[in-house]
Amino acid sequence: MLKGLTGKTALVTGAAAGIGAATCRRLHSEGVNVVAEDRGGGGLVALAANLGDRIVTVVGDVSAAADTERFFDTAVEHFGSIDLFHANAGIDPGVVLLADLDMADFDRIFAVNVRGAFLGARAAVRRMSTQPGRGNIVFTSSVAGLKGDAGVAVDVASKHAVNGLAKSMAKEIGHLGIRVNVVCPGPTQTSMMDRLEVGIGNLGGADAEGVRVALATVIPLGRYAEAEEIAATVAWLLSDEVPYMHGEIVTVGGGLYP
Ligand SMILES: NC(=O)c1ccc[n+]([C@@H]2O[C@H](COP(=O)([O-])OP(=O)(O)OC[C@H]3O[C@@H](n4cnc5c(N)ncnc54)[C@H](O)[C@@H]3O)[C@@H](O)[C@H]2O)c1
Repeated sequence: MLKGLTGKTALVTGAAAGIGAATCRRLHSEGVNVVAEDRGGGGLVALAANLGDRIVTVVGDVSAAADTERFFDTAVEHFGSIDLFHANAGIDPGVVLLADLDMADFDRIFAVNVRGAFLGARAAVRRMSTQPGRGNIVFTSSVAGLKGDAGVAVDVASKHAVNGLAKSMAKEIGHLGIRVNVVCPGPTQTSMMDRLEVGIGNLGGADAEGVRVALATVIPLGRYAEAEEIAATVAWLLSDEVPYMHGEIVTVGGGLYP
């Protein structure tokens, strides 16, 4: 078991699928009370049925301020505090060259990936700073927050913004007893990656399977990450195993991004 997790309460956004659902399962197995949030309810119902006790689900949109307040209030009402926050919800940007960009898509991606991260961060800090045990926050960013790539400029810009938010927060909130760190996954086996493979393939004249094989070939570990491997890193950062890690941008990319 990881140090310092049992008995704490975590809010995880984008928890109905992929990395968010895997983080909920991992934290729950460490004895954490879980508040699982998503805009779609189906995956949440399955997650709650699977985990049984110590889980509450909330449906809403991370880009809506009122919804975000409700997620945090739900955590405090049910479990008495909000100790851990995994700001994970993000949307599939598609693969579009800048010249073809529809600004409605830009607004949609920034609303979820950037505004959603800011709203969650603000709500978490407001509550955690008044608690005796303070708190711990992890954002899911991306390797798109570290470098540029053709066809994904909006995702890249949005994830650089998330990294910038976390770096600034680290300076603001360390003295309040709240830690914040960022996990930057490389390609990870989730439905988002399935959609990205189709988009990359359309751009380069390949099919999704061809894209998958080509990507796996250039990753030194020879495969995508599993969502559970990203969740393990999130849980580690949220635990007391690494109390001096603060403001860190942690890449989990199978060796592709050093
Ligand atoms: N899969 C990858 O290869 C990869 C790589 C780097 C970063 N990421 C990041 O990891 C995070 C999780 O992605 P994933 O791969 O698990 O994708 P996913 O599509 O499997 O899961 C994302 C979840 O977020 C939810 N969501 C989307 N918009 C929301 C909103 N407005 N409010 C609440 N919930 C919302 C979705 O309903 C979905 O359940 C995202 O921030 C993504 O950018 C993923």
